[in-house]
Amino acid sequence: MAIAQRPNAERQAGTLTVCIVGASGKLGQYMVQHALDRGYQVVGVCREASVAKLDRFAGRITVIPGATNDREVIKRAVAGCDGVLTVLVPPGVNNYSSGTAQAVLDQARPGARLVFSSGWHITRDGQDVYTWKVKALVFAARLAKLARLVDLDDQVEACRRVFASDTRWTVVRGSSLEEGDSQGLPVWSRHVGDPILTSDRTRRVDFALFMVDTLTNDTLVHEAPAIVGNQSPSALAYAAATRVP
Ligand SMILES: NC(=O)c1ccc[n+]([C@@H]2O[C@H](COP(=O)([O-])OP(=O)(O)OC[C@H]3O[C@@H](n4cnc5c(N)ncnc54)[C@H](OP(=O)(O)O)[C@@H]3O)[C@@H](O)[C@H]2O)c1
Repeated sequence: MAIAQRPNAERQAGTLTVCIVGASGKLGQYMVQHALDRGYQVVGVCREASVAKLDRFAGRITVIPGATNDREVIKRAVAGCDGVLTVLVPPGVNNYSSGTAQAVLDQARPGARLVFSSGWHITRDGQDVYTWKVKALVFAARLAKLARLVDLDDQVEACRRVFASDTRWTVVRGSSLEEGDSQGLPVWSRHVGDPILTSDRTRRVDFALFMVDTLTNDTLVHEAPAIVGNQSPSALAYAAATRVP
């Protein structure tokens, strides 16, 4: 199934307080901007050494420095938040992603909307069909794990914990990313391999837009949407093929 979404901003009543875990990264900074654009109160968490990356938001967001897998840091950051956007980090080999996910799952207030970022390699039900390109990237990442550079398996473990939780979660699975101006809200499908996703390309700014939009989209609770840019060839082809005359 492939679904195009309408932005929810205009449907949002009242102001949300949102925690962004991993706010200093590329995806995180875009999410901060989208959240501010919607008038949300923003609390950002990032490593102490990265706080300066958030300087352009000074005075507009609250920054809590610390490791994102530190349960005390997360407890302080998510207190009172309506939603939590979490960047599940692939780098690192110290169970950083799974520790981060667990801290958020345990410390967010009951009923809070929890949205996690990951890549297409995450599968919820084993029904995803991968091209040689995605398989090659995963293989390269496994080699990097041997060199203690990247641990994709820890992101897999993080998502396993999210899928098993009874919180109000969504795991947004990003395709290959590129920089560039926004093209609007990406489209999504339940399974990698579905024709709409073939282009495997999304603007990072729009990945962030989808993450923020998901906070107010209850139809995505307990879903793991795989996304692709709405102007990508496969998305346009799908739209043309399914257009009602
Ligand atoms: N890159 C892609 O092509 C791609 C494709 C699909 C999905 N995704 C997903 O998109 C999300 C963001 O990925 P991104 O590639 O765009 O990167 P990103 O937004 O720049 O995020 C990288 C994050 O990792 C943190 N980080 C880097 N090295 C670390 C370390 N050694 N220990 C702890 N934290 C560390 C960074 O924190 P600091 O700011 O403190 O360094 C930052 O929060 C991830 O969930 C990823 O799985 C990425």
